[in-house]
Amino acid sequence: IGIEIEVRDEVTSTNALLKDMAAKGALEGRVLIAKRQTEGRGRLGRNFFSPKNGIYLSILLRPDMDFREAMLLTTIAAVAVVEAVREVTGRDTGIKWVNDVYLEGRKICGILTEAVTDVESGRLSYAVVGIGVNITKPSEDAFPDELKDIAGFVYDDEEPPKGVMSRLSAAIVKNYFKYYEKLPEHRFMESYKKYQILINKDIFVITPEGKKKARAYGVDDEARLLVEYEEGGKEALFTGEVSVREA
Ligand code: BTN
Repeated sequence: IGIEIEVRDEVTSTNALLKDMAAKGALEGRVLIAKRQTEGRGRLGRNFFSPKNGIYLSILLRPDMDFREAMLLTTIAAVAVVEAVREVTGRDTGIKWVNDVYLEGRKICGILTEAVTDVESGRLSYAVVGIGVNITKPSEDAFPDELKDIAGFVYDDEEPPKGVMSRLSAAIVKNYFKYYEKLPEHRFMESYKKYQILINKDIFVITPEGKKKARAYGVDDEARLLVEYEEGGKEALFTGEVSVREA
């Protein structure tokens, strides 16, 4: 795969832009990095607050896979970020199922994969994996209240150490393709399981019907979270249907 990286100061959303490029024929391996986003997209239709001193990065992929396998593309990203942060900063992060990266109890990275499927074959036409990492804290007044208790940063200082943004971006991209190119072997799955932070913890499983207390006891090879409900019964939770938080 030829990796071609483009860096821009400010964009609406790296995912949105890269999807446009994909629709116009851009090749697998195209990477778009921005220093700020004005319309960053999060999961479940939410916005992703994207001020300066964050990394906003999207990767274009054209895997020959069924749409049901597309979540593996997100799983790889979570592993790639955890390992990149460790390589570049020495700090230990973990994955909060499904694919948020946490540092000391706070979310430092979110991942959003947008896949476009061929209607007839059910195979992916392309997928854009978007990764947003909070590097340093934005000024207090610019920081939305609803994020204050959740969001964390790779560094506590106002300015990131010199060179760290580009080293971290490069490490994320490099790790991503290392695993992606070995995709049929699923070598990253063991790491994905190992980095989970909710295992053996009491959690709430939240669905549109309400929330139920459970204990998380593992993650299977399809990246489903295995839970045992307090009221009895076990379940393998599939991404997208539910969200979980620590009880
Ligand atoms: C989430 O936690 O809800 C997922 C957030 C994903 C944010 C990244 S930043 C780069 C890429 N471009 C976007 O507009 N979103 C993703």
